[in-house]
Amino acid sequence: MSLILDDTAEAFLTAANPEQSPLLAEMTEYGNEQGFPIVGPDVGQFLRVTARLAGAKRVFEFGSGFGYSAAWFLGALPADGDIVLTDYDEGNLADARGFLSRAGHDTRIHYEAGDAMETFERHDGPFDIILIDHNKSMYVDAFEDAREDLAPGGVVVADNMMAGPVEPEHVTAALRGEDPVDEHTDAIASYIEHVRDDPEFETAFVPLGEGVAVSVKTD
Ligand SMILES: C[S@@+](CC[C@H](N)C(=O)[O-])C[C@H]1O[C@@H](n2cnc3c(N)ncnc32)[C@H](O)[C@@H]1O
Repeated sequence: MSLILDDTAEAFLTAANPEQSPLLAEMTEYGNEQGFPIVGPDVGQFLRVTARLAGAKRVFEFGSGFGYSAAWFLGALPADGDIVLTDYDEGNLADARGFLSRAGHDTRIHYEAGDAMETFERHDGPFDIILIDHNKSMYVDAFEDAREDLAPGGVVVADNMMAGPVEPEHVTAALRGEDPVDEHTDAIASYIEHVRDDPEFETAFVPLGEGVAVSVKTD
């Protein structure tokens, strides 16, 4: 169930989007059953199309969980591409390995347990797409790290702009100058202002899933 869209819009997306592969459908069900905060199929399809638009070969994820968002990216990456999955939790990455080994793609997959920010330091860029979906208080720092290692025309996508650990009304109020109601709202509003005001990026906010920010490097 969407936390943002009304029933009409949600029904439209379910009817209009392509059917998920059996593996993705299984992963979606697994995430929902476990109550795991996956991006969901609407954002997954959006990530895949974004990767195609960017002609992406190399992807880095800050926060991969059990590999759900990575599974969507994989469908758009070439055999000579690569994707770096990061997570604090080794069990999540073991699950990711199990699922993604069945995806039937030759793209190189790196599974990196530990802090995503430290892992990023160890991997040379440039990356074509960087997904930010880990600790909300680290979003701005992750973006600043990402900008240094982003290919020209590269894209940073950040999740949870409107929902999940935040409520859309709270983020809106904070953006209008009210005191943030909590640290998550503060972190997300700060991220939005940060990317919106960056002269080297063009950013759009897309109310799919829990709301994503898409920032394209313009030079
Ligand atoms: C929202 S989930 C990621 C979901 C994933 N992108 C998807 O849609 O399939 C966030 C994940 O980030 C991990 N995480 C949080 N902070 C982290 C950090 N600093 N370094 C690495 N992983 C982190 C958590 O363990 C959790 O599995």
